[in-house]
Amino acid sequence: MDDARKSAAAAALRPDPDAKPVSDESTESFVAFMDDTAPQGGKEKDLTTSGRALDRWFRERQKHQGAPRLLEIPNETMITNGGPLRITGNITLVDEDGSVRYANHLTLCRCGHSRSKPTCDEGHLDREFLHSGKISAVSDIAASNRPSKITISLIKDGPITFRGRMKLHNQFSQEVVKMRGSLCRCGQSASKPFCDGSHERTGFKSGR
Ligand code: FES
Repeated sequence: MDDARKSAAAAALRPDPDAKPVSDESTESFVAFMDDTAPQGGKEKDLTTSGRALDRWFRERQKHQGAPRLLEIPNETMITNGGPLRITGNITLVDEDGSVRYANHLTLCRCGHSRSKPTCDEGHLDREFLHSGKISAVSDIAASNRPSKITISLIKDGPITFRGRMKLHNQFSQEVVKMRGSLCRCGQSASKPFCDGSHERTGFKSGR
């Protein structure tokens, strides 16, 4: 991530003292900006807003009761070495039950062992999840830093799908840009980071 995008992400982490609680009547909920610096272990993986720095989209919603505004950041997924998917961007997250939330940063399990699915609880460290993050695919389209929306869907007992421009990258400086795809979250795909259908063979359960 370059300096401009780091600044945008840091700005989104700052708590807003004027933010008010979400109405219980809302059919939508909003994901708090997930703070990777928080201590790991499960209890900080709650997707509610209490005690957290608030997602900028969430704050916009509170102030204007309107649609979230695009942040000046592209959609990117870091395929970490032996660890989770770190996703940044203007994300609409569709949960397994169809509920919709918004986020700018998600850390999603891809080893299949988290007890806080869909988020990572560092269970990959106990299970020696070994995938380096290498990407065996080519780009569908050219890279662009223009901000855009992306929809990420959690498929029950299956992969994480995305629709919208997404740059996948890793520690090897590989960069692949795709408009849609399915990312493995059971840890068993032979085509990681993509899903190859192995979750059906292994009986992966995405429930917590
Ligand atoms: S989710 Fe892992 S192979 Fe499909």
